[in-house]
Amino acid sequence: MNRYVVTGGAGFIGSALVRALLADGREVHIIDNLSSGKLQNLEDIKSRITFHQLDICRYDQIAPVIAGGYRVFHLAAIPSVPKSIDQPVESHEVNIDGTFNVFRAAAEGRVGRVIYAASSSAYGDTEVLPKVETMSPQPKSPYALQKLVGEYYASVFANCFNLQTVSLRFFNVFGPRQDPSSPYSGVLSVFMTCLLEGRRPTIFGDGEQSRDFTYVEDVVGLLLKAAEVSGISGKVFNAGNGGRITLNETWKQLQQIEGVNIPAKYGPARAGDVRDSQADTRAAMRELGHTPRFTFEQGLRLTLEWYRAHQLAAK
Ligand code: UD1
Repeated sequence: MNRYVVTGGAGFIGSALVRALLADGREVHIIDNLSSGKLQNLEDIKSRITFHQLDICRYDQIAPVIAGGYRVFHLAAIPSVPKSIDQPVESHEVNIDGTFNVFRAAAEGRVGRVIYAASSSAYGDTEVLPKVETMSPQPKSPYALQKLVGEYYASVFANCFNLQTVSLRFFNVFGPRQDPSSPYSGVLSVFMTCLLEGRRPTIFGDGEQSRDFTYVEDVVGLLLKAAEVSGISGKVFNAGNGGRITLNETWKQLQQIEGVNIPAKYGPARAGDVRDSQADTRAAMRELGHTPRFTFEQGLRLTLEWYRAHQLAAK
């Protein structure tokens, strides 16, 4: 009853989830191949976790760790729209075949429930906002399609293999420990480090695309609820804040918080980019009992403070 497995537990969302599970007194096993996750994210809790440096593409290796888990949170992925276009094979193998391996290991190992990190990218450019779970998905990149296939597998495993599953569509999650250093990094991690270092960020396209940026602790809250609420197996829920802001407005707000004036540069729009994204949060509120705890601005300030402290500590 107490064994919790987190794939992708060394990533910024996974490591925040692991901290919350430890605070609840859980026994936590992490599966991560450190492709984008970092041991540094687990430094302060390393004596309280069991870390397995394994790749979800290796079924034989991950199956024994997953078997017998009370709850398995499947967050491991190659999490990027542009990377799925630059490296479609690797992205497909990890996000689809690796995900299948996790569900298969969970079903065969009689796991209590798998909570799957799906993506808001599945909606694509549907015309109606906010985006509600009952809409037909319109994936427009390999990543969006791969994450959607994982959702379909989740519900098929619930139907055919007697495995409880729940999918949460993450909406542009941000917060402490998000890695700003890769060309595929989430935009807020890039904006914040530019802000603190006095550099100009590059905005891809006209900057009028909008996102429902969601603070990581609210996503952790949803993951914990999805793990415990009964009667939701096979379902899909939005994991978003419910707001929407353009990139231009976001960069402006960050400059205001910091009291600086650094004009952004503009570059070509990115292939596969969704124009607007905003979560309808009603199903999560009604069925999971979720209430977002952080406004976008609160999340921004907390994250900015983390980067500032981290940057200073690194000097
Ligand atoms: C998408 C998904 C999100 C998923 C994430 C995985 C949507 C709506 N969201 O995020 O659910 O978790 O993939 O990575 O599909 N940008 C810049 N400058 C930069 C970096 C990015 O302008 O330096 C722009 C991008 O072109 C995009 C926006 O910022 O318009 C957000 O990009 P990013 O943070 O990479 O996330 P999404 O691709 O929106």
